[in-house]
Amino acid sequence: MTEREQWKSGLGFVLAAAGSAVGLGNLWGFAYRASQGGGLAFLLLYVIVVLVVCLPVLVGEMILGRSTASSPFVAPIKLAGNNWKPLGFLFALASCGILSFYAVIMGWTVDTLFHSLFVGLPSDMREAGDFFGRISSGKSVFIGQIFSLGLTALVVSAGVRRGIERLTRWCMPLLFLLLLFLALWSATLPGAIEGYTSFLFKWDASQLLDKTTIRNAFTQAFFSLSLGIGIMVAYSSYLGKKNKLPKEAFQVASFDTAVGLLAGMITFPIVLSFGLKDVISESTVGALFIALPTGFANLGGIGRLLAALFFGLAFIAAITSSVSLLEVPVSSMMDTLSWNRRKSVWVSTLIVFLLGIPSALSLDFLGNMDAIFNVLLILGGFLIAILLGWVVPSRYDEDLSASDSNLRVRKYLVFMIRWISPTVIACGLIISIYDLFFNWVAS
Ligand code: PHE
Repeated sequence: MTEREQWKSGLGFVLAAAGSAVGLGNLWGFAYRASQGGGLAFLLLYVIVVLVVCLPVLVGEMILGRSTASSPFVAPIKLAGNNWKPLGFLFALASCGILSFYAVIMGWTVDTLFHSLFVGLPSDMREAGDFFGRISSGKSVFIGQIFSLGLTALVVSAGVRRGIERLTRWCMPLLFLLLLFLALWSATLPGAIEGYTSFLFKWDASQLLDKTTIRNAFTQAFFSLSLGIGIMVAYSSYLGKKNKLPKEAFQVASFDTAVGLLAGMITFPIVLSFGLKDVISESTVGALFIALPTGFANLGGIGRLLAALFFGLAFIAAITSSVSLLEVPVSSMMDTLSWNRRKSVWVSTLIVFLLGIPSALSLDFLGNMDAIFNVLLILGGFLIAILLGWVVPSRYDEDLSASDSNLRVRKYLVFMIRWISPTVIACGLIISIYDLFFNWVAS
């Protein structure tokens, strides 16, 4: 057996975890869901879910990984015996399933980037529809999907330090600078204030009890923080004992939320300034691949350059997430089958590619995959809370005391993971399943 790799530094781990969290979900899901779910009401629910549910579970995943130093497939078994094998399966299934359609959307991103640089972008809504039709069907989807998966596989096969850590160390600061620049530019657009107020900062209290808004807040928070799927287990299994997990989890969650907000501050002014309001409410991908390219195209050459920056940024955000998704099956294969990293990477990538073919061929299929897997993440989060709050409750506190975490924070987290998180997630899960099912029947 070769020795288990470790992150080079604590910062490297935080950047990698933040890289996993910040992704297409922040750029596309956050804006869309906030606009659908009553702006500030959605934001309030989102922040509550993050503080009450996601943080304790995020720390829980980290503890699960660090204290067992095992892959997501093996960690639950090591901690609580063979009865917990299904959780490992859930992690492996959910990460492959999500990556399968995530890579397809990454492919559209690459294609849009390519169009911004070399071909040109749609100038009105009719052209925009055709444009999206072209990038989301036919041969170009497969080219984009294979390119994205191939690049992801190359990074993961280079290893934790030389691949994932090196990638995120460069990409995350770059991503943040690009975001800031674009948000500042967006603020100068004529529709900026109206954009902020009509989507993000509008208040409608009745939305707080709306089932779809509640589901949106849960799914967005879990998806955006890459939670309930074993990623943080995998990443934390390469950690030393000294890292202060609560602090690091808090940094990741804050950064992720800030990026979601900043992305909204880029998207909404563009949407409002160029009269693209209807597109964003029509489909989840509308804002990102229909409204934004059209908005940018209205600005001529400069617009194409800005579009290239934006879609370059989206791709950077996406690849730091896709490598984390691939690391789950890869580390699990290395652990259970004793394969080397390279073999595990290529076998996992092939499986993910095959699983992604239906999503590449059909938008409806992709939408359903997104909806189903989002709910599975919440289920994963619930099981993690049960595992660490009830089945092996001592592990949580022990691990945090060993790294000398702040006592009050520790008490808060231990209380939450036992009493509040599982209860709230159970409610969220029931509402989400009900809402998902009801939406299907209704359509
Ligand atoms: N968190 C990533 C995003 O916001 C996507 C992701 C989801 C990555 C689940 C890993 C696991 O886009």
